[in-house]
Amino acid sequence: MPLSAHSGKGCMASIELWQGDITTLAVDAIVNAANNGLRGGGGVDGAIHRAAGPELDSACRKIGWCATGQAVITPGFRLPAKYIIHTVGPVWGAQDEATSDTLLASCYHASLALAAAHGLGSIAFPAISTGVYGYPMRRAAFVALNAVRAALAEVPSIERVILVSYQPEMQRIYGEVMRGLDLGERYATGGRS
Ligand code: APR
Repeated sequence: MPLSAHSGKGCMASIELWQGDITTLAVDAIVNAANNGLRGGGGVDGAIHRAAGPELDSACRKIGWCATGQAVITPGFRLPAKYIIHTVGPVWGAQDEATSDTLLASCYHASLALAAAHGLGSIAFPAISTGVYGYPMRRAAFVALNAVRAALAEVPSIERVILVSYQPEMQRIYGEVMRGLDLGERYATGGRS
């Protein structure tokens, strides 16, 4: 059973943890941990490009670029998800730690804002920047959970956010961070709890 918590927004939006391959999820949008040139890569980016098919590469070439901390959207093509939201996380160590946290939080905010602008209700995120980009897992989990809870207060259409772990260790860390947060009070900066 997934560990879940209400976002602190009204009573509808939920944040769930799930472990597995994000490309299998039949949600409105899955998020890709992309690079600035949207050129495809390894990790979750490679898995998404393989599962979505070559049309995804063409769509990414047309868009051409995404700044770090920002997000762009394409169709899901052959995926069960309707859309793919491509965001670019910070490379750990490429800037100071506070700036890294701000950029990583921005990935979650920008992705949720883009999903809301398209009227989407469910969105699944991989653990952005925690693979090739080297972000410490616990720090990334803390930033992700706080960013999602804050962003949900501003995006009324989103009902369900799934934080996906590929590795058991990431899933365990997410669970610990989620349980450790004082939900709806200290960290829900934009919340209406
Ligand atoms: N489903 C869900 N999560 C996955 C999957 C998958 N199929 N495959 C990998 N992951 C997880 C990794 O275990 C990690 O926790 O996604 C997280 C992010 O890892 P990366 O995919 O390496 O992404 P990131 O660290 O943001 O680095 C981005 O890697 O693939 C390149 O083009 C991409 O240059 C960009 C960089």
